[in-house]
Amino acid sequence: MPGSWYTRSMRYLATVAKGLEAVVWGELSALGLEPGPPRPGLVPFEGGWEAGYRACLRLRAARRVLLELGRFEASHADGLYAGARALRWPDHFGRKTTFAVEASVRDHPSLTHSGYAALKVKDAVADALRAVFGVRPDVDREDPDVRVVLHLHGTSATIALDLAGPLHKRGYRVKTVPAPLNETLAAGILLLAGYDGTAAFADPFCGSGTLCIEAALIASGTAPGLVRKVRFGFQRWPGFRDRTFQRLVEEARAAARRPSSPILGSDADGRALIAARDNAAAAGMSEWIRFERRDAREFVSPGPGCLVVSNPPYGDHAGAGEDLPALYRAFGDALKRNAGGATAYLLCGNPALAKCVGLRAARRIPLWNGPMECRLLEYRMVEGAFRTPGKGESAAGTGESLGETPGPGRRGVEGAVSGDGGEAPGPCPRVDLRPPQPGDLPILFEHQRDPEAAHMAAFPPRDWEAFQAHWAKILADPEVQVRTVLADGKVAGDLLCWGPAEEKEVGYWIGREFWGRGVATRALAAFLGVLEFPVLFAHVAKHNVASRRVLEKCGFKVCGEMRRACGEPPLEADEFVLKWERAEETP
Ligand SMILES: C[S@@+](CC[C@H](N)C(=O)[O-])C[C@H]1O[C@@H](n2cnc3c(N)ncnc32)[C@H](O)[C@@H]1O
Repeated sequence: MPGSWYTRSMRYLATVAKGLEAVVWGELSALGLEPGPPRPGLVPFEGGWEAGYRACLRLRAARRVLLELGRFEASHADGLYAGARALRWPDHFGRKTTFAVEASVRDHPSLTHSGYAALKVKDAVADALRAVFGVRPDVDREDPDVRVVLHLHGTSATIALDLAGPLHKRGYRVKTVPAPLNETLAAGILLLAGYDGTAAFADPFCGSGTLCIEAALIASGTAPGLVRKVRFGFQRWPGFRDRTFQRLVEEARAAARRPSSPILGSDADGRALIAARDNAAAAGMSEWIRFERRDAREFVSPGPGCLVVSNPPYGDHAGAGEDLPALYRAFGDALKRNAGGATAYLLCGNPALAKCVGLRAARRIPLWNGPMECRLLEYRMVEGAFRTPGKGESAAGTGESLGETPGPGRRGVEGAVSGDGGEAPGPCPRVDLRPPQPGDLPILFEHQRDPEAAHMAAFPPRDWEAFQAHWAKILADPEVQVRTVLADGKVAGDLLCWGPAEEKEVGYWIGREFWGRGVATRALAAFLGVLEFPVLFAHVAKHNVASRRVLEKCGFKVCGEMRRACGEPPLEADEFVLKWERAEETP
């Protein structure tokens, strides 16, 4: 194998269910793999072989990891053959390597049949290899050594190698039930919900146990690749670097820990529970999960601050025959009665059924379960009062914190006493807003870690993992508006707007080095111009005089005050609530 070629950086594509791009982006960043900007259904990243192996071993929510070999224009079949023929196939094949080609074709002017497109690429690969090795390689559609993937979208062709095979095939699903959740989607939903193993977890419609098993893998720090029963595709490639791979396996094993909170799966069907227990055993996770037979209408939260994540039957296969509207209503009632302080996420493919839950969703996150567009509905249960917060109420004081919503409740920070109009302002920089880019996150992370800023905002800093999970949620939520603030072209902070339509809240965070120079006021004023809501709210800690002045300069008026706990561990502070109303336009 050519040595230098094997150490150079390559371009990988992590494919992902639509709606989970930010989650996988966050996972890649956490692994130090420098992802590029996500596109619908995929997140690119760069690196050597080690990066590819690590991604296959550790990513929870990605469907596949592809190694991109080339991109080219192919307006006709001959162009597709020529483009594919020109790629460096001998770098990946030995004389006896078998292969198969898988193609997806969309919107091409003349190539409409994916089988024909795959055939063209197969011929190109075979001809290229025969020219080097003197023999045509064998095609093995069932169990090839190398899987070649063609995406032909319009006339733009991308050819890649599938590094691992489908990552959802962890190998622990030894028994199944109707409509089981895909393992990578289940993991992605858990990460989207911010699950990290610290809160108690429950799935009251657990079926074959996928969500519980993925939760146990997260809580025990077990990389999904470690439980995999079949070899990764790349382990059969001629250039496979076993020593590198074994080192990564050891590194992944070293991350294992004891889960600190209970994981509970329940289902009304005894056969589902048998499947769930066998699957958990196959994953090596039995020790951490309690499965029990229980009707979800009698659901009781297993602990304070519990996270409930579930996909109840939606009337296709699972649950057919049941009175599903009545079941959803009764389950909503059980949440109200027995799950105070919990946050519940339900994956639902049927909006009419979702309405029957009878709770107001704090968020509705679009997600694709295979071809089916679903919503992941988030419900926050108020502690003690056994209901979700009503209009104008805050979840504060409930053991939950609005700080865990996309955009902390109290985000306003502007420098010490000087603020914008204060003493010793520096020269006023040019302020611009733009959508966030992946490279902004490490800078924003440092801003919120600054103890002085955290004190002014009365918001405890997050660690890197929690920070990324929080931003993955923000970026995945189409209801949240977010901008990066640039001061003279440098990343100076961020602005967020979130919440239900009638209670939209804004918050911002400006790095300390930009305090006292009018950055927050200009940025917020520009943001108000972008937002289209007639009324907005903001919360500011009473001691944060400068931030209150920023808000007032932008037209916010104090409309109330409250004491609230934000962040983890919760930090209490007295706050002003400010309201902004769009001025009537005069004709
Ligand atoms: C869509 S499946 C869940 C699949 C699961 N996420 C998995 O990956 O296998 C819905 C499950 O709800 C269960 N179910 C239906 N009615 C129920 C009820 N009243 N109480 C509890 N579970 C119920 C069914 O037995 C089924 O296992």
